Amino acid sequence: MQHNHRASITGIGSYLPNKILSNYDLEKMIDTSNEWIVQRTGIRERRIVDDGVITSDLGVQASLRAMEDAGVSAQDIDMIITSTITPDHIFPATSCYLQHKLGTPKAGAFDILAACSGFIYALAIGESFVNSGAGKTVLVVGAECLSKITDYKDRSTCVLFGDGAGAVIIQKSATKHEILSTTLVADGSQADVLIMPGGGSKYPSSPETIQQRAHYIQFKGKEVFKLAINNMTNLILETAEKNSLKLEDIDLIIPHQSNMRIIEATMERLGLPMEKAFVNIDKYGNTSSASVPIAIDEARKEGRLKRGDIVMLVAFGGGLTWGSSVIRW
Ligand code: UT7
Repeated sequence: MQHNHRASITGIGSYLPNKILSNYDLEKMIDTSNEWIVQRTGIRERRIVDDGVITSDLGVQASLRAMEDAGVSAQDIDMIITSTITPDHIFPATSCYLQHKLGTPKAGAFDILAACSGFIYALAIGESFVNSGAGKTVLVVGAECLSKITDYKDRSTCVLFGDGAGAVIIQKSATKHEILSTTLVADGSQADVLIMPGGGSKYPSSPETIQQRAHYIQFKGKEVFKLAINNMTNLILETAEKNSLKLEDIDLIIPHQSNMRIIEATMERLGLPMEKAFVNIDKYGNTSSASVPIAIDEARKEGRLKRGDIVMLVAFGGGLTWGSSVIRW
């Protein structure tokens, strides 16, 4: 019967740096207030790495926890896929540093870039790899040091972002959390609304790009806000239909944590109560690729996920990209 089993999440881990940057700390750095940040975003604090700590360091810690949870060793891993917009370097891939630090002897390793939707993109690749039989055990990581590309002089962006990492192991399993479907979407016509312009082939790093603060995240907040709500709402409806689910059949939605008001507006449009959405943005802010796997890990630890539950992951971010995944817990 082994051959009937499908790709499943068999282990989960997350890691957050200890250092907390609270709204009150930000009040001392820029012209803002705890009240404004809480009302407009739902964020109270976020985690920030210490000097010298880099994305692969966070990814390693989350990966070790996911591997322990799944009961797999470094020898078992066939593939490492990291989603990040804050790689250790533009190249080589951060996954290669993970391969070395974890000591996986036979794993292929590469990164994917789909910003805040990146974890769901990476999950989809891992799912296909396992379901096709090309490999048995895939490590999927979302890891970010957004503090390194956040402009702490720009109050409209710097209150939002934090650092962290989450990871999952994907294998075929009869007993663990089967990935029922994944859906990926992109619209590059809107690529410039959420961007770090400097450092690529269009604007290679130069004194000018530094002066223009082009190595920091820039976005058109209001546009991103509206597009996130519209696209996530439509994607949840389409995903439910594709899986022959009624919205009431979904036990928990785990959305990318970008703004509490985006999550609330999406749930309101769907006519679903907020209890059906998992939220931890108050503690960590927006951690881009890391937010969904961190949220899965916390939802599980808080007892929000029970065997057989239908869980929908959904994310929206730079690219623009968006994606969803349905998991039978
Ligand atoms: O993963 C995707 C990443 N991107 C996002 O998640 C961004 C999505 N967008 C958002 O979350 C929201 O658009 C923001 C939270 C960024 C902004 O909220 P908003 O309700 O759209 O505020 P706004 O940009 O319209 O600004 C309202 C006012 C402005 O002042 P005036 O022009 O009304 O006098 C801003 O200058 O609030 C001011 N403001 C702030 N005030 C205090 C902007 N940032 C701050 C701040 N503290 N940090």
